[in-house]
Amino acid sequence: MTLRSVVTGVGHYLPSRVVPNSAFEATLDTTDEWIRSRSGIERRHFAEKGETTSQMGTAAAQNALEMAGIGPDDLDAIIVATSTADLTFPSAATMVQSALGMTRGFAFDVQAVCAGFVYALGNANALIVSGQARRVLVVGAETFSRIMDWTDRSTCVLFGDGAGALVLEAQEGAGGSDDRGILAVDLHSDGAHRDLLYVDGGVSTGTTGYLRMQGNQVFRHAVEKLAQTAETAMERAGVGAGDVDWVVPHQANIRIIQGTAKKMGVPMERVVVTVQDHGNTSAASIPLALSVGHARGQIKRGDLIVTEAIGGGLAWGAVVLRW
Ligand code: ACO
Repeated sequence: MTLRSVVTGVGHYLPSRVVPNSAFEATLDTTDEWIRSRSGIERRHFAEKGETTSQMGTAAAQNALEMAGIGPDDLDAIIVATSTADLTFPSAATMVQSALGMTRGFAFDVQAVCAGFVYALGNANALIVSGQARRVLVVGAETFSRIMDWTDRSTCVLFGDGAGALVLEAQEGAGGSDDRGILAVDLHSDGAHRDLLYVDGGVSTGTTGYLRMQGNQVFRHAVEKLAQTAETAMERAGVGAGDVDWVVPHQANIRIIQGTAKKMGVPMERVVVTVQDHGNTSAASIPLALSVGHARGQIKRGDLIVTEAIGGGLAWGAVVLRW
């Protein structure tokens, strides 16, 4: 018997303020047409003034716990993937822990920018298969609207806010690719590319800073690295492209999503796409897409899912799981 980390709950939260592409036309030299055709984004949600990453993460977590049919004290651990925690410290995860009313266990953040959720899933899986935790809440939550330079048309039109969450639970499997749960994880980073995508503030500057990105350079790395990491994880899981029910990619750009699916040999009919409605929500994008894909009736129990993401660092990776 093999211990597997099985998804028993999923949920998401989106702030109520929806901003269409056309809203940027008044202040920037841009058009709805440019944003749609270059990125696939049509609208995004922005947090209200005072609405924080941990509040959104808590709302998503409550939905996931409800679906799992458990309370906060049934959890052993919380991992929040975020680059936009409310404060420098404590972690967003401890804030979610207290907001949920969880009085036991432990909580910490994972910071791997847009790859944060696959990193967090990898960490949660390691805790579960090593026997350190039986139930782990994994949250991706971001308020990228707080680190946008609203005068930079090449970045501020691309990002959005939101949160998604999964509950993972230890269950016994037979050890093969038919098991439910996480079947394989593949993670990478290469700090040599740190200047392609970063925030120009932090403890060293005494400011929060703004996101800076050489978008076309990141793009050049994205498709190749994403297809490669997905293929490595699939090989490790013992599955091929024909076995995949859903690719649930990081939602940064429809052209990256299409290019990666093509390289993987998976048709777009088997890809969950939410980028048009959410923009790039960094570490929140994969759990948001999983939750929306589940709510749409696309993702069903037993489906084989491949998630993949790349972001600042550069950091990238993939997780193969059976729902
Ligand atoms: N409106 C109009 N024109 C614009 C806009 C805009 N909003 N933004 C840029 N342009 C212009 C540029 O100035 C440039 O003009 P120039 O040719 O006169 O210099 C032209 O459009 C083309 O710019 P590119 O950057 O080459 O455009 P590209 O087709 O590469 O699309 C984009 C840009 C959408 C940013 C794309 O490169 C991309 O999605 N990159 C990857 C982003 C990503 O995946 N990031 C990783 C995750 S994010 C994270 O980790 C936080």
